[in-house]
Amino acid sequence: MIDTSNLMTEFDRLHREYGDVFCFVVGSNPIIVVNGSEALRDLFIKEADSLSIRPATFILSKIANWKGIVASNGNLWKEQRAFAHKTLKSFGFGKQNFESQIHQEVDIFLRCLGNSKGQPIDFVAPLKVCIANVISSMSMGKTYGLEDNRLMVIMEMIEWLFADASFRGIAAYIPFAKHIPGDPFHVKKRENIIEDILNFLREVVEDHKKSFDEDKVHDYIDAFLKEQKKMEEDPESTFTDEQLIQSVRDFFVAGYESTVQTLRWIFLILIHNPDVQIKMRNEIESRIGNSRKPSWSQKDQLPYCEAVITECLRYKGVGPTTLPHGVEYDVYWNGYRIPQGAVVLANLRSVAYNSDTFPEPNKFDPGRFLDDEGNLKGQNLIMPFGIGRRICLGEALARMELFLFLTAVIQRFELLPEDNYDLPSLEGKLGTIYAPLPFKLRAISKK
Ligand code: HEM
Repeated sequence: MIDTSNLMTEFDRLHREYGDVFCFVVGSNPIIVVNGSEALRDLFIKEADSLSIRPATFILSKIANWKGIVASNGNLWKEQRAFAHKTLKSFGFGKQNFESQIHQEVDIFLRCLGNSKGQPIDFVAPLKVCIANVISSMSMGKTYGLEDNRLMVIMEMIEWLFADASFRGIAAYIPFAKHIPGDPFHVKKRENIIEDILNFLREVVEDHKKSFDEDKVHDYIDAFLKEQKKMEEDPESTFTDEQLIQSVRDFFVAGYESTVQTLRWIFLILIHNPDVQIKMRNEIESRIGNSRKPSWSQKDQLPYCEAVITECLRYKGVGPTTLPHGVEYDVYWNGYRIPQGAVVLANLRSVAYNSDTFPEPNKFDPGRFLDDEGNLKGQNLIMPFGIGRRICLGEALARMELFLFLTAVIQRFELLPEDNYDLPSLEGKLGTIYAPLPFKLRAISKK
């Protein structure tokens, strides 16, 4: 029996007991959990052709109707992921020209911290709007004010989807879960919420169509409409309105909560480690100065700050496993037969907490990612964004956001707990992702 109330420690135990590959059965579905860097790299690279699909039992696939990017498969997924990748790259993800859009949101967040005048602040609400706005400006070409109810209603829906632990649990693998009276696994509620989000996006797409000019591509929706037009004679084209709406929905669903919760973890960890804040601030001050916010192009000058981000991603990764992967055809690997139709989860936490690679893994130590000269090392020893062909599509954007938000905050503020004698808990809660419990902080201006 598996204790589903604490899957992370349960997976640790099974990994210790059974080694790098173990399996359990839910309903009639075998779920295979693969652990450790070596096994994961070997399996997900060698057998990528079979393991890059989402399984039929995956709750989101049904709700998303196999459209979008997160839950789609086959030719549709390949074509749409490649298009999204190319388009996001052309917008400058991971490059400097998208930076000003992120910096606008960083400025709003800094103002909120400044306005709190060192008093305890529940910084999550403004942080959420700022992160949602980064995705909104990239995908829909618009941003919303802090008080704008429309965006917050949608974001609250996404949060509910993420906080609901039933998604990671048994229901995700039971095909008939939706028909159980009383909806105990919230499958119908989940469907209704996703439909409301899609209706909001349908309106946005209709507005874009009215003002569409193929010579002026401002955002992802414009780029998609342009491609749709190019392909309109092709009866097999995957560039449909429904696909567009579901893809933009995926950017919000996959890119909002993961980034917000990662930043919350980082701020929480730094409250516990004031000495690390001092070292970061000293590095920023000595290499960049205080007159301007650090920019993405200066990242290589701030190896200690980067090491802190990397260690936070290791220590409190929001995704202890990947999303479920399916098995398209039988795979024979390392003496195992992984049958067609099984579900495979990559246990990313088993990589982050491997005590051979990371001695004393329960200790927070950014020094693990620095060599003797203080240069960044070993970033790819962890896999916070997954592995294989389904690896996070937004990694470049997420890394930029983490760096720009964090370095600007630490440059200007010292982060303290709400109560000096009662540090907020470092325990988290596992829903769809692993998030910190609620906490407030005090931001003391350093200028
Ligand atoms: C710190 C922030 C983030 C973390 C830790 C993270 C992590 C992950 C992980 C672990 C996966 C699953 C990979 C798998 O199933 O093998 C994933 C998938 C995905 N992520 Fe992220 N992510 C983050 C931010 C973002 C952002 C900002 C976007 C926005 C564009 C995004 C878009 C996606 C998409 C579209 C997928 C599905 C890829 C596919 O199925 O082909 N993510 N992410």
